[in-house]
Amino acid sequence: MSRSYRIAVVPGDGIGKETVPEGLRVLDAAARRFGFDLTLDHYDWSCETYKKTGRMMPEDGMERLAESDSIFLGAVGWPDVPDHVSLWGLLIPIRRGFDQYISLRPCKLMPGTKTPLANRGPADIDFYVVRENTEGEYSSSGGRMFEGTPREFVSQESVFTRHGVDRVLKYAFELAQTRPRKKVTSATKSNGITFTMPYWDERFAEMAKSYPGITTDQFHIDILCAHFVQHPDWFDVVVGSNLFGDILSDLGPAVAGSIGIAPSANINPEKAHPSMFEPVHGSAPDIAGKFICNPIGQIWSGAMMLEHLGEKEAADAILRCIEKLLAEGGPRTRDLGGQAGTEDVGRALAQAIAAGG
Ligand code: NAI
Ligand code: MG
Repeated sequence: MSRSYRIAVVPGDGIGKETVPEGLRVLDAAARRFGFDLTLDHYDWSCETYKKTGRMMPEDGMERLAESDSIFLGAVGWPDVPDHVSLWGLLIPIRRGFDQYISLRPCKLMPGTKTPLANRGPADIDFYVVRENTEGEYSSSGGRMFEGTPREFVSQESVFTRHGVDRVLKYAFELAQTRPRKKVTSATKSNGITFTMPYWDERFAEMAKSYPGITTDQFHIDILCAHFVQHPDWFDVVVGSNLFGDILSDLGPAVAGSIGIAPSANINPEKAHPSMFEPVHGSAPDIAGKFICNPIGQIWSGAMMLEHLGEKEAADAILRCIEKLLAEGGPRTRDLGGQAGTEDVGRALAQAIAAGG
């Protein structure tokens, strides 16, 4: 019997509607070549839906998504709907509701693309940022008192549970096991944040004991940001709390080059719920509707989805074809200095997959 996966497809807003079809084109080519089936459920949930119905997704949206193996998302957000409405109406409920406690971003400089860092090439920038995605600094524990008076104060508590900390650390170590360098770096700030961060460090040291083959180090978040820029070659897998991981997972892809290429995943590693795969970029209202955006971030996110589903060979093939296209002067969009349209890039990659690349 052939392997079969059910995918919920949510293009969302703006260029999401242009990149997702190219992602699907390449996934389809990979499915044919590697002999698995993808069943697609298409959902038009977006800011447009919100304007028509007052909801970003229907009331039973989560139940429908729950039936899928993975969610393939474009981008969500449009200027005439406040970002907190679109974010909290669609992305956050999915990430929290499906306990996607890992946010994963590869930061890999592709051949034939530019990094803003001087004198760095693909061999220097190839690491992952692993961010805790459910607790930590982004808790809803806190409040405001004596509002509008001179005694007014606000507080917000960070929440670090052993369960929450250990599972993200474990994921980082397991990921490092699969990589040649086998190294994990922890983002901390135990010199300034005196309860939660020493606890994070303690759990990190404890987890490291179970992985004697993995090299470890740790840096305070401030100097770690500097090292991302000055020594990107030091890193292999970098793990951080929700806040520190958030910062690093924008900085990492930025040092690796174009926003149009960067992929990301929101993962529930146990596969108790569907995971979600989406490019790092947003809906790009400034270029939407012209079919000039770069679809590679979306296509690479598709490769991450296949890897999560267990189709590693197909995922590797997609990545190889992306690298080859960029290295060998295949069609490229304007953000990479070319003239090609979104569809030209998608078609070229689908053909490369079909041709055995
Ligand atoms: P953005 O990522 O949409 O655009 C930033 C800049 O990068 C723009 O100049 C855009 O043209 C360019 N760009 C982005 N993706 C590109 C691609 N694939 N090819 C070529 N150029 C590309 O970020 P912005 O403008 O801050 O946000 C626009 C909307 O997207 C907002 O509503 C925001 O909330 C939403 N957003 C959604 C995200 C998500 O769905 N996860 C992530 C980031 C933003
Ligand atoms: Mg962010």
